[in-house]
Amino acid sequence: MNPATQPFVLSQPTQAFLHQPKRMLIGGQWVEAVAGQTFAVHDPAGENIIAHVPEGRAEDVDLAVRAARRAFESGPWATMSPAERGKIIWRIGDLLLQHADELAEIESLDNGKPRAVAYAADVPLSADMFHYMAGWATKIHGNHLSLSCLYTPGVPYHAYTRSEPIGVVGQIIPWNFPLLMAAWKLAPALAAGCTVVLKVAEETPLSALRLGELLQAAGLPDGVVNIVTGYGETAGAALAAHPGVDKVAFTGSTEVGRLIVQAAAGNLKKVSLELGGKSPNIIFKDADLDTAIAGAASAIFFNHGQCCCAGSRLYVEKSVFDRVVDGVANIAQKIKLGPGMDPNTEMGPLVSSIQQNRVCGYLDLGRQEGARAVVGGQRRQGSGYFVEPTVLVDTQPQMRVVQEEIFGPVVVAMPFENLEDELVAEANNSIYGLAAGIWTHDLSRAHRVAARLKAGTVWVNCYNIFDASLPFGGYKQSGWGRESSEAVLSNYLETKAVAIRL
Ligand code: NAI
Ligand code: MG
Repeated sequence: MNPATQPFVLSQPTQAFLHQPKRMLIGGQWVEAVAGQTFAVHDPAGENIIAHVPEGRAEDVDLAVRAARRAFESGPWATMSPAERGKIIWRIGDLLLQHADELAEIESLDNGKPRAVAYAADVPLSADMFHYMAGWATKIHGNHLSLSCLYTPGVPYHAYTRSEPIGVVGQIIPWNFPLLMAAWKLAPALAAGCTVVLKVAEETPLSALRLGELLQAAGLPDGVVNIVTGYGETAGAALAAHPGVDKVAFTGSTEVGRLIVQAAAGNLKKVSLELGGKSPNIIFKDADLDTAIAGAASAIFFNHGQCCCAGSRLYVEKSVFDRVVDGVANIAQKIKLGPGMDPNTEMGPLVSSIQQNRVCGYLDLGRQEGARAVVGGQRRQGSGYFVEPTVLVDTQPQMRVVQEEIFGPVVVAMPFENLEDELVAEANNSIYGLAAGIWTHDLSRAHRVAARLKAGTVWVNCYNIFDASLPFGGYKQSGWGRESSEAVLSNYLETKAVAIRL
């Protein structure tokens, strides 16, 4: 059944899940926080409390790291064949799809995004990441090497590399795609044979707790994945600093990314980071403008602009600037705001009042700086953390609304003359380098500009195209390392060289 046509009621399994007491998954057991504290989880559309979850702190993280260590060193996971591991990872993907309705509802309630979007995008993409990574479990290997060791002439050696799991991994994820970010983190770590402590975002802990039950149902041994709910400054910081963690993988703000690096310095654990962005989306006048306009709107408004790769700086060739801005504004005007669970909703609330205030703070700042909202520009009155889809014009390159990540449904639109060098310099004038979009029918220009943009992903005549086989990550302050694809596996593997004198 198409969820968009279902009435606005929660399914039986979702109600049952919401009503059951929430615990953290540590060493295969569902446990409360050692200190017994909990915190409330809100529905951002109605501002109601929908659950309480344990407030995990340093002592809980420590228990989780110990459980992950035991599972890594001595549990069944440590001796399991790659094929067996792959089968379990595949089953996780299957279980996600079997529970798609319920997971989409939980995600919508907790995060605010439309249920139909969670059902069509978040859940299947999450399942796909497990299915894709299941295949890698049996394909991770080292190499045979031919030595010519100069100071032992004539001595034969047999030498090879081994790709070994890096060990116990701490993973810290944000609230914009709670289930999908858990999948992006867990699936490759499991394929590599690691064990994990996952610290979910305090705003959106629920889908990961349901995922934890599905991990157990898939046959994942105890302690291989431990899930901690808690705040960033306490639980997150403890995980990033823990001496028993071999590697930390983080997705979130660039500001906290820097704190993760500092915390990791204690035991020099390996670090990968997927951070912020301020991605340029460039429309040339020869593009198919109707497609480009729709693409530019979805590049910024998808997930309410709460995407690290949102196309938040829109560069449009001068002669078509007015037409494109009118087109995007027209789409923005028609977007139906409402609770994610309402089938008519096209855009839900932002995740929290903090995020709503942060985004509205940028709208005020933009006005003070001299920018003008062609459409939107306000929070919506009434309950729920809604912000109107907004297009800002009359900006200057150094304005903060042009330079800083807003992480809401706000795009700055700027005209450019047909001078490629200037355009590329302007597009690259950012501390970030996560993604970029190019809209043109000129094939040579598309390739030329794609090569010159300092961005980890370039989409041409499309935007927000994700696939488990595409690497994703940032240049500059958008991060270290890559997520997804074969490339992510190196985040979770160590290379060991073995040289044997024959
Ligand atoms: P954040 O970076 O504070 O939170 C992300 C995760 O990090 C959460 O799980 C949080 O608990 C954890 N965390 C926070 N402080 C920590 C610390 N000291 N040590 C370890 N873990 C810590 O992001 P926040 O505050 O939710 O949003 C602020 C801004 O960050 C947003 O407006 C947006 O610009 C950016 N952001 C970027 C995301 C991305 O996908 N790259 C996702 C979420 C936010
Ligand atoms: Mg924060």
